[in-house]
Amino acid sequence: MSEILQHREAGVLTLTFNRLDKKNAITTAMYSRLAQELEAATGDDSIRVAVIQGAVEIFTAGNDLADFLNNPPISKPGGEVAPVVRFLNAIRDFPKPIVAAVAGPAVGIGTTLLLHCDLVYAGDNAAFSLPFVNLGLCPEAGASLLLPQIIGYPKAAEKLMLGEAFYAEEALEMGLINRILPPHEVNGYAQAQAAKLAAKPAASLRVTKSLMKMSQTQLAPVMTEELKHFGQLLQGPAAKEAISAVMEKRKPDFSKC
Ligand code: COA
Repeated sequence: MSEILQHREAGVLTLTFNRLDKKNAITTAMYSRLAQELEAATGDDSIRVAVIQGAVEIFTAGNDLADFLNNPPISKPGGEVAPVVRFLNAIRDFPKPIVAAVAGPAVGIGTTLLLHCDLVYAGDNAAFSLPFVNLGLCPEAGASLLLPQIIGYPKAAEKLMLGEAFYAEEALEMGLINRILPPHEVNGYAQAQAAKLAAKPAASLRVTKSLMKMSQTQLAPVMTEELKHFGQLLQGPAAKEAISAVMEKRKPDFSKC
């Protein structure tokens, strides 16, 4: 079965992470599929809203760690755009509303992709984390710009520099999510909100979204800069040590990094 499930109904495109044995960790193939779906939906008038969701116990464990080493997200000059970059560009530029439903952990890109969603609903079991520094990396998906804008600089610095998990109540207080629900109700609630949006005038929604995003002129250049550093750091000693440590379920040793 596909690791990204796609469902189209009544104007709503639903994309579901479906790799539960690996905690919905996202591989390059999954990024490609997500990108493809969003790109196709962009120009498809029958799709008016997109929903991104996971399972009741896990949204996503973030980028697949083995892929970080084997398929690093580095776009070669003149070559194909890395699938994760293609996905991030597609979600950043998606002109229609995106609703996210998050239950359980949302690690790394699992949290940063939410910064590109319009409505975010979370289970009371949601755990957000941005462990980039702990992995010897730096933020991606425009988080270094968007997170300070949304939650304020001191909170963003805390979340990005310490990389500790934070939970639904704090995420709601900080303005990162719209509402907390019992975990088994999150996907259904997101669908109901998406159905409401799908019934609204599509052009008005599109214009409203584009106006709200109009001031984000620095987002694309910041994302390019993030990816440049991310790619370099990924090949550095701290990332190699940190990623091996997670995979070997041991503490990393940064004393030489
Ligand atoms: N990439 C690849 N595999 C992953 C993964 C990831 N990001 N996250 C989890 N997995 C795999 C584990 O290796 C394990 O595989 P195995 O059964 O073959 O050993 C399986 O998923 C279950 O993971 P486990 O850690 O036992 O589940 P858990 O419920 O105890 O914890 C998480 C869930 C998400 C909290 C934990 O898996 C985690 O922190 N993962 C790493 C997240 C991360 O650092 N992501 C990168 C972000 S930039």
